[in-house]
Amino acid sequence: MKIVSLVGARPQFIKEAMLSLVVRATHPWRHVLINSGQHYDRAMSDVFFHELGMPQPQYNLGVGSGTHAEITSAVMLGVENTLLAEKPDALLVYGDTDTTLGGALAAAKLNVPVIHVEAGIRMLPREMPEETNRVLTDRISSQLFCCSRLAAENLKSEGIVSGVHVCGDIMYDIFIRMRPGFNTPEVLRQFSLEGSSYIVATLHRNYNVDSPRNLREILTGLAAIPARLGKRVILPLHPRTAKMIDDYNLATEMRELDIVSPLGYLELMALTAGADFIITDSGGLQKEAYYAGKRAIVVMPDTGWRELTDCGWNILCDPDASQLLGACALMAIPCLRPENLYGDGHAAEKIIERVKAVF
Ligand code: UD1
Repeated sequence: MKIVSLVGARPQFIKEAMLSLVVRATHPWRHVLINSGQHYDRAMSDVFFHELGMPQPQYNLGVGSGTHAEITSAVMLGVENTLLAEKPDALLVYGDTDTTLGGALAAAKLNVPVIHVEAGIRMLPREMPEETNRVLTDRISSQLFCCSRLAAENLKSEGIVSGVHVCGDIMYDIFIRMRPGFNTPEVLRQFSLEGSSYIVATLHRNYNVDSPRNLREILTGLAAIPARLGKRVILPLHPRTAKMIDDYNLATEMRELDIVSPLGYLELMALTAGADFIITDSGGLQKEAYYAGKRAIVVMPDTGWRELTDCGWNILCDPDASQLLGACALMAIPCLRPENLYGDGHAAEKIIERVKAVF
C-alpha cells in the first residue's frame, strides 16, 4: 500500500510531521511526501523540517507565491505528474490552503481517492479563499477526518456522511509530543522578555491584512496595548503582512510593538506558554493557545473552532481598535478552561488505522 501526502504551507508541515512520525514508527504503508513549495522562506518552511525531525520530501514542486489561480493550477500540474508516476492508493491533504485544493482536484480527476485531514471546518465570510478551498476539498474527498463533532455535523448538513470520522486534532498530538522541547525561559531571554508581561499577536489572513482599513485598525489597537495595559506585544511578522504594511505605509503604527521574524514551532509554542494571552487570526494558534492553557482573542468575523468561543475561552473580535481593546479587558475576567475538546492526543494513530482498514 502506498499513500502520498501533500504539504506546502506552515500548518501543514506541522500536521504532516506528526503523521509521518507515527508512520515511520509503525510502517503501515509506503509514504511519499510532496512539498508544493507554497511557503518557501526558511522561517516559513525549512525550520519546521529541521525542528520537527521530518524527512525531506521526495518531490518539491517549487510553486512559490502567486495569485490563487497560479498557485492552485501549479499544484494541480505538479501533483498530477507525481500521482501518475507514483500510482498511490490515495492522496492525503491537510486543511484549507490553495495547495490543499490543487492537490485534491488533481487526485479526484485521476480517480485517486482523497483523504482530507481537518475536514468539515466552515467559517464566514464565505468569500474567504480558505472557505472555497474547504468546501470544495470536502466535496471531492472520500475519507474525511474531523477534529471535532461540530465539524462532522457541518459535513452532515451538506449531505456528506460517508467516510466521515471524528478523530481529534493532530495538532494536539504534536503539541503533547513536542511539549518537553518548549524552552520558555530560553525564548524569554532571546526576546528580552524576562519579568515582562506580554501578549503574542499574529496576523496574516487576507481578510485582515489585504484591507488597509482592517490592518490599520488592528495595528492601532495593538499599539495602544503597552500604554493601556502595561503589557508588551510580540508580533512575529508574516511576510504577507510585512508587505502590506509597507504597501499601505503603516510602519508608524508599529513603533509600540516588538516585531520579530516568523518563528519556528518550538519557539512560538514556548512564547505562547509564557504569554498572558494571544491575539491572532490564525486557525492553528487559537487552538494551540488553548492547549497551552492560554486564552485567545480571534480577530476574525468567525471561527472554525466554535467550541472555544461558545464557552467564552476565546473571544471573537472585529478588526476594530476599540473592540480589540475591549476584548483585552475581557481577558482579565477568569474563565473555566473546557477539557478535551479536540481528542486525546492520538488522532494520527486513528487516522492511520482507518486508512489502513479502508484501502
Ligand atoms: C496561506 C494559506 C492560509 C494559511 C497560511 C499559513 C491560502 C489561500 N492561504 O496563507 O490558509 O493559514 O498560508 O501561513 O493558501 N510569502 C513569502 N514567503 C513565503 C510565503 C509567503 O514572502 O515563504 C509572501 C508572498 O508575498 C506571498 C504572500 O506571503 O504572496 C502570501 O503567501 P500565500 O502562500 O499566498 O498565502 P498566506 O497568506 O501565507
